[in-house]
Amino acid sequence: MRAIIPFNQDWLFLPEEAAPDDRFEAITLPHTNVVLPHHNFDDAEYQFISTYRKRFALPEPLNGRRVYLDFDGAMIASTVTINEHTFEEYRGGYTPFSFDITDYLNPDGDNLLTVRLDSNERKDIPPFGFVVDYLAFGGIYRDVTLRYVAPCHVQRVFVRPQNVLTGSPNIEVDVWLANQNDTAQQCTVLGAVEDDQNAEAEASVTIDVPAHDTVKVTLSLTGGEFRLWTLDEPALYACLVQLYRPNAQDEPVLLDHVTTRFGLREAEFRPDGGFYLNGERLDLVGLNRHQTYPYIGAAAPARLQRLDADILKHELSLNLARTSHYPQSPHFLDRCDEIGLLVFEEIPGWQHIGDEDWQTLSLRDVRAMIERDWNHPSIILWGVRINESQDNEAFYTATNKLAHELDPTRQTGGVRNFPDSQFLEDVFTFNDFSNTVVEPLYTPYMVTEFNGHMFPTKSYDQEERVMEHALRHARIQDKQLGMPNVAGAIGWCAFDYNTHQEFGSGDRICYHGVMDIFRLPKYAAYAYGSQVNPNQQVVLQAATVWSMGDRSEGGIDPLIVFSNCEELEVFIGDERIGRYQPDRETFPHLPYPPFKISLGPGLLTWGRRMADLRIVGYVADEIAAEQCIAADGLPYELQLAVDAAELDADGADMTRLVFRIVDRYGNRLPYTNQVVSFEIDGPADLIGENPFALIGGQAALFVKAQHQPGRVTVRASTPRLQPASVTLTIR
Ligand code: GAL
Repeated sequence: MRAIIPFNQDWLFLPEEAAPDDRFEAITLPHTNVVLPHHNFDDAEYQFISTYRKRFALPEPLNGRRVYLDFDGAMIASTVTINEHTFEEYRGGYTPFSFDITDYLNPDGDNLLTVRLDSNERKDIPPFGFVVDYLAFGGIYRDVTLRYVAPCHVQRVFVRPQNVLTGSPNIEVDVWLANQNDTAQQCTVLGAVEDDQNAEAEASVTIDVPAHDTVKVTLSLTGGEFRLWTLDEPALYACLVQLYRPNAQDEPVLLDHVTTRFGLREAEFRPDGGFYLNGERLDLVGLNRHQTYPYIGAAAPARLQRLDADILKHELSLNLARTSHYPQSPHFLDRCDEIGLLVFEEIPGWQHIGDEDWQTLSLRDVRAMIERDWNHPSIILWGVRINESQDNEAFYTATNKLAHELDPTRQTGGVRNFPDSQFLEDVFTFNDFSNTVVEPLYTPYMVTEFNGHMFPTKSYDQEERVMEHALRHARIQDKQLGMPNVAGAIGWCAFDYNTHQEFGSGDRICYHGVMDIFRLPKYAAYAYGSQVNPNQQVVLQAATVWSMGDRSEGGIDPLIVFSNCEELEVFIGDERIGRYQPDRETFPHLPYPPFKISLGPGLLTWGRRMADLRIVGYVADEIAAEQCIAADGLPYELQLAVDAAELDADGADMTRLVFRIVDRYGNRLPYTNQVVSFEIDGPADLIGENPFALIGGQAALFVKAQHQPGRVTVRASTPRLQPASVTLTIR
């Protein structure tokens, strides 16, 4: 019978090629091959060959089973050795790989597993070969598991709900069976979907699987009454596939069982230019996400991966994310399924197409991505072009053909940056950096990037720039929402990210995010975040530091406020200035346009003493929100917070530790660069720079659990303010 055993614990690591064990450091996966500062480092610092080792006895007896070692991802070329046997190098940092290690194991004794990990930018492996605007940090940065299966077992399952908008959907389940026995095996495959609300469907099939072969069977499950997967109520179901061996006594023996989570939804880009979810047009509003983080590269544990999805959905009010420019963590995608966030996922690559061997790897990536992720209802489109590469008819005909063969239920896109590119996919996905939305030459059509390098913006830039950055996002989204032949637009990008010296601001960061590298908001985050019904969440954020002298030529005119309130009332000190409506004229298509408030030349003039700003937001004539900004601009409080109050004592779990200096009303002071120092007590470590000079008045570290349970306290201090502290539980 199947057993899935987490294999992240008790590894040894050395940042060089093999040596005696005593030189190694004990680590837990996911792991980055080097912890770095959040910027100002050289990519050579993580580009080296390292060695991972693990000594282990089999956690369960074999009992005639096969044992597979499954890697979710390691950057970028892994040579795995188990005892005396070395497998062929796996080339690729973003797709999973697996080895059957059974024949090389000492079933009753000690085993030595070694991974020689080459984290250099190898020109033979996508995305490399030319320059790339992001970093492929090194390490075994995703999970590893040990999988025991019977020699005849389920290799893969693809659950394909059909006719989901009719009263009688059927669930087709493709099951791949592998038989590693020396003789053919007769098997019965049983598929069932059940839930606690009495939806159920079942089917079975009996088949012969030849020796050392793989066959595919398709079950058609009918009869259930299922709820649809929607953005507001993303219903998920579990499909249980069981594999039996019939026997003479008519008592079938259970050989294997696999549970697959899925959802029922219809997602389609139509020739009219629109995207339809479950038969209804849905205007797509999204941002691009890179999987990299400050300090830890891409080695973020499940909790941080899931947090990103929550930020995109709940803080930025998006309905779509693009996993630019590669398949991302299964934990991130799982969370997208759970909260109803659509995903456009694409193969690794950036502008460069390599030789035939490279293209073969890229086709392998198409397969690996689709076979790994086809059961995620959140994924609506496969990206099967190298982002912004030149046309290549043979290559892209092949990637599209393969994607359609593997997954007939989803359309393909392929991101390009020139409008007359050869249209081989189902959806023309286009990076439009024109600072408007150009008229599509083809439909279906979606804008997959805009803004980005056209207007890099730091969270501590001058007010008018950070405000204009936000307005650029708002203008493009507004424009595309008014174009019926455009399905949606995905801005560049969600979070600032580390990059090579050829890109970004020279400190190895591309400041293209609507949030900074710590996932903390710039004003543009509120331009997105405010596009949500105020019944769900009220947003009110003025795009100002409330100072007369920050903008060119001075003044605070106009005052821009991002809010989903119906009306705003503005006060300066005790003086009521007026009541205002959103700027529907400039933004006719945004659900909740920004407010553009003219404070007039008479109100705020040089020499006039500033008073506090107070903005009151109304929904249905009731007060729904208020923001006050202190006119004195003085640091009032050091704030410290964690996203999660409990961590798992697994040596890898992490939460973000956010700190900021705020004014009397809790507004971040974006030009405060005070140094904050941290101390930690208890079974956890701080990851990041300590002490830290604030960036835009804020920043974050990570708290990482050790292996023992207990209470953890983090204390932060900075000159002239009260220290702050926060506690967590490691369980
Ligand atoms: C695009 C590219 C992205 C990023 C962006 C910056 O050309 O696809 O990866 O570099 O520009 O605006």
